[in-house]
Amino acid sequence: VIDIRTLYKNAGVFTLDPGFTSTASCESHITYIDGDEGVLLYRGYPIDQLAENSSFIEVCYLLLHGELPDAAQLESFEKTITHHTMLHDQFDQFFRGFRRDAHPMAVMVGTVGALSAFYHDSTDINDPKARTIASHRMIAKMPTIAARAYKYSVGQPFVSPRNDLDFAANFLRMCFAVPAEDYEVNPVMARAMDRIFILHADHEQNASTSTVRLAGSSGANPFACIASGIASLWGPAHGGANEAALNMLEEIGSVDRIPEYIAKAKDKNDPFRLMGFGHRVYKNYDPRAKVMRTTCHEVLKEVGETDDPLLAVALELEKIALEDPYFVEKKLYPNIDFYSGITLRAMGFPTSMFTVLFALARTVGWIAQWTEMLEDPTQKIGRPRQLFAGATERDYVAIDKR
Ligand code: ACO
Repeated sequence: VIDIRTLYKNAGVFTLDPGFTSTASCESHITYIDGDEGVLLYRGYPIDQLAENSSFIEVCYLLLHGELPDAAQLESFEKTITHHTMLHDQFDQFFRGFRRDAHPMAVMVGTVGALSAFYHDSTDINDPKARTIASHRMIAKMPTIAARAYKYSVGQPFVSPRNDLDFAANFLRMCFAVPAEDYEVNPVMARAMDRIFILHADHEQNASTSTVRLAGSSGANPFACIASGIASLWGPAHGGANEAALNMLEEIGSVDRIPEYIAKAKDKNDPFRLMGFGHRVYKNYDPRAKVMRTTCHEVLKEVGETDDPLLAVALELEKIALEDPYFVEKKLYPNIDFYSGITLRAMGFPTSMFTVLFALARTVGWIAQWTEMLEDPTQKIGRPRQLFAGATERDYVAIDKR
């Protein structure tokens, strides 16, 4: 009988790092974060500069190609993406198989995974051309899929993409236009949507991106890899946090109840956490939260809801938490999700769509990371080790002897 634990004696050096807090899984050239300083750069460009001056489609090009496009490159890239916005006709029937009350994220996981059944001519990961086509298809079709998930849940007919509109405006139209009614995309909303997409486009090796890389390391097809990222993003500690943050603000309801919730968050016997606060990497104000805060004010002004009670709760909660020794010592600052929920709600999205919008935007980051991994000559199948702490070897016991 072998004591399994003795095996580790010959196993060389092992690091046990639950949650990968100090283990890099790869070398990457895409996104840089300095969590202590609150810095986020896509290919070297600061997130606030991109949010202010760029467009989501240009950011997609930047993340995928490593450089900002010139005018001709941007035009050609936009045309390519636009060319792929339609979905196969039978795809609509696939949506109709879901219950109407299904969570749109459940629909996203299922339908994006199913893309490999519809577009199998671009699943060969060893063919760079096929990889590029699969990438363009996913960036282009994600808004169409997300809008359909929404339309299906509210019982309205699907709206086809309009390729004369830009990425964000087309998406808003697919979500909110209804037949026989005029629908003009509000430019303030389109700009806010575009900015929200930019802010969420990539964030280096977070849980969902690492999931995509791990799935991709086995040679799985790109559509399956992105579906695995969507599944990972769904959790409330990751992409589901904006939904959870808004629910929390609604639950708090009024400024006078904030102290009660701050006390709950500090109580170690209570599992409650202030949603939208804290980040594994940022130990400073999340630079995306700053842009999101401004965008939130712009959207609320546009819809005439500057006296929204939830905004009042959010502003006061932020103020109190930023001064509270518990949050200061633990470096718990508002993250992007703190303001995105209020903004998206004011734009007309139900909470169940928040994580879907995150997945839509993050798709380009996942693709850039997946491509970088496949093009890395040192790439191997991802295979973490474990520190075994279970039973040592023992003989099987017959059921009448247990
Ligand atoms: N409210 C109250 N206390 C908190 C919070 C919070 N939101 N976040 C962390 N803490 C406390 C923990 O209880 C812990 O305290 P302890 O040291 O006394 O045990 C300490 O701060 C460190 O927390 P960890 O969970 O170890 O930090 P980690 O880096 O693992 O977690 C996370 C980061 C998951 C984001 C966490 O801060 C959290 O749960 N926040 C709320 C959910 C949220 O907003 N998620 C969005 C993340 S951003 C994104 O995905 C886009």
